[in-house]
Amino acid sequence: MSKTNILRTRRLRASEGIRRLVRETKLCVDDLVYPLFIEEGEGIESEIEAMPGIKRFSLDRLSGELDEVHALKIPAVLLFGIPSQKDASGSQTWDDDGIMQRAITFVKKNYPDLYVITDVCFCEYTDHGHCGVIVKNGDRHDVDNDATLDNLVKQTLSHARAGVDMVAPSGMMDGAVGAMREGLDAAGFSQLPIMGYSVKYASAFYGPFREAVDSTPSFGDRRTYQMDPANRREGQIEAEYDDAEGADILMVKPALSYLDIVSDLRANFDKPIACYNVSGEYSMIKAAAANGWIDGDRVMMESLLSMKRAGADIIITYFAKDVAKLLNS
Ligand code: PBG
Repeated sequence: MSKTNILRTRRLRASEGIRRLVRETKLCVDDLVYPLFIEEGEGIESEIEAMPGIKRFSLDRLSGELDEVHALKIPAVLLFGIPSQKDASGSQTWDDDGIMQRAITFVKKNYPDLYVITDVCFCEYTDHGHCGVIVKNGDRHDVDNDATLDNLVKQTLSHARAGVDMVAPSGMMDGAVGAMREGLDAAGFSQLPIMGYSVKYASAFYGPFREAVDSTPSFGDRRTYQMDPANRREGQIEAEYDDAEGADILMVKPALSYLDIVSDLRANFDKPIACYNVSGEYSMIKAAAANGWIDGDRVMMESLLSMKRAGADIIITYFAKDVAKLLNS
C-alpha cells in the first residue's frame, strides 16, 4: 500500500480563506479601552520615557489625542488624574473642581459618545503614594480600610456629579464596590455602573505606570492590599465579593501573566470580564520591538488575542490606538 500524506488538522489551515472561516477568536476595536493620563496645568504634553507613544496631557492639549481616539472608533477611555497638590488623604480626589472632574466634563462635553471610565483611587493624590488613608498599626504603618472607603465614596460621587459614565475602583480595599454602590444609589446615581478591579495583583509590571503618574509608595509596598501573585483560588474569592457587592464588570490585572485567572472568571461568572494589559506589558513589547528583536505589531496582536481567547470581553490597553489602526486598515 502506498504511503498516504496524512492530513488531519492541517486540512483546515491550508489557506487564509479557510483559516478565516474557522478562526475561533477575533479581536475588534469594540473590545478596547484606552487609558489617558491628564495632568493639572497648561501646555503639558510630555512623553513618558518608559512608555513610548504614551503622554501626559494637560486639558488644553488633550483635543488632538481625543480626536484620534474618536476617529479610530475606540469606544471608551479610562482616565487617570495627576494633581498639582498632594496631601495625606488625597483630598483633591473629591474636589468638584479637581483635575479628574474637569477632565470628565471636558470629554463628555466635546465627545459625548466617547464612553468615559474613571480610575477611582488615591495613590496619585497622596503624598505617601499609597491607595488610601495611612494609620499606625503597632510599629508599622498600614492603609486603613474603612476610613479609605468613606473617602472613596466622596470621590465616586464627585466623579458622578461631573458626568462620568462608569467608575472603576482600583485600590483593592475590602468592600469598595459595595460602599460605592450604596453611595451612588443613595445619591440618585443608580444607573451608573461599576467595574471592579476585582482581581488585582501586587505586580512589578506596574513600574512604568508609577513613573508616569508619580505614585510610587514613599515607604513599604502595596502587598497588604494588592494580591499575592502566587494565588489563584484567592482570585475567585475576590471576584465573588465584587460580584455580590454589585460590580457590573469584573476585571483582572495585569493581563498576560494572569490569563489563568481570566479563564477562571470566564468559567465562573456570566458578567462581562475585563483585563488590564498594564504598563510593563506594553513597555516590554515596545522596547524589544525598538531593538528589532521582535515584530512589535505581531507580538502585540498575538498578546491581545490571547486575552480574548482566555475569556476577556474588554481589554484596557495602551496599545488601543495601534491596534485600532491595524484593524481599521
Ligand atoms: C492604582 C493603579 C495602578 C495601575 C492602575 N491603577 C498602579 C498600582 O496599583 O500601583 C497600574 C496600571 C499600569 O501599570 O498600567 N491607582
